[in-house]
Amino acid sequence: MNLTESWRIGPVEVPTRVALAPMAGVSVQAFRRQGRRFGAGLVCSEMVSCAGIEHRNERTLGYLRVGADEHPLAIQIFGSEPATMAEAARMVEAAGADIVDMNFGCPVRKVTKTGAGAHLLEDAALACRITEAVADAVSVPVTVKMRRGVDNGSRACLDLGPRLVEAGAAALTLHPRSAKQMYTGYADHSLTAELVELVDVPVIASGDVTAPAQARALIEQTGASAVMIGRGAQGNPWAIREILSSDSAQPSREEVAAELIVFVRETVRELGEHRASGFLKKFYGWYLGHGRFPKPFKQELVQLRSTDEVVTRLLAAAPGAAPLVDALEAGLPDATDEVLLDRLPISIYGGG
Ligand SMILES: Cc1cc2nc3c(=O)[nH]c(=O)nc-3n(C[C@H](O)[C@H](O)[C@H](O)COP(=O)(O)O)c2cc1C
Repeated sequence: MNLTESWRIGPVEVPTRVALAPMAGVSVQAFRRQGRRFGAGLVCSEMVSCAGIEHRNERTLGYLRVGADEHPLAIQIFGSEPATMAEAARMVEAAGADIVDMNFGCPVRKVTKTGAGAHLLEDAALACRITEAVADAVSVPVTVKMRRGVDNGSRACLDLGPRLVEAGAAALTLHPRSAKQMYTGYADHSLTAELVELVDVPVIASGDVTAPAQARALIEQTGASAVMIGRGAQGNPWAIREILSSDSAQPSREEVAAELIVFVRETVRELGEHRASGFLKKFYGWYLGHGRFPKPFKQELVQLRSTDEVVTRLLAAAPGAAPLVDALEAGLPDATDEVLLDRLPISIYGGG
């Protein structure tokens, strides 16, 4: 199985068989474009995320930057109102989404109680109406990301999947844990194999993918068109490269520092210093772990007041990172090519 082979979602060509998972509180633009650079064939935004609903924070998710180097890019939306979802879909299509992805899997109660996310796994009629409305509203492919069902042992995805395809879904991503499981236990990819048998659109397998042999085996055993990597890529874009190439060479300290510095700077540009400095703290542990830097170093970074200080400290710890940072930044597309999508309707956050 060649994971570097391209495949299609409707008319959209996806260059490799590894997709980067949408993750609320993680999938900022820097994460998505870094994922593409390391070989992810498809990246997904978290435009309207579980965290956004949870915190009812309009400012957090009220805008989204789409860069020229992110394509193919899926933008994920969620909600429970077909008409509002259709409106949101039109907006993200206009902002440059190559694919509109819908979240039918978020297990967080603040989301499900609004009728969105994993709730839709138990309301097939509404899920289909939403899919139809969104597919009718845009000309780009519409995809659905779902869990196996709400309750442990549920097989709801197998009933729902084919109906969503009939309603217009051009691909399905399955994370075969139940909503109740959250992230405990394991993803039961025997359901992924069953879903592949039932639908004639590509299925993406999400859940517990971390290593090359396992990713290959998952595709071979399930017939999925691609694997999606989430937690395994947090602070670790090298995992994507490793899965694609089976080259297990670990990054040098300089490379790690350089990637983190660029990530920090881009995230500050996107979120502003105030929000970025809190947002980034979890990334320090993710990047610097894996035995790459001594443990106390992470603590030191977390306590620094500004992201400028973080960058200075990283450069002091790995001086050879400076030319790598320059090279990475020189490769970034011109910011004037970016599309800025803002003023999203509050109702799709579950607020209002
Ligand atoms: C912090 C976090 C946030 C997530 N946010 C989203 C989200 O906004 N939309 C979504 O469809 N899935 C979300 N997921 C689920 C992931 O996309 C993925 O399906 C799941 O983590 C299993 O894959 P993994 O084992 O590779 O992490 C999230 C997962 C995590 C850990």
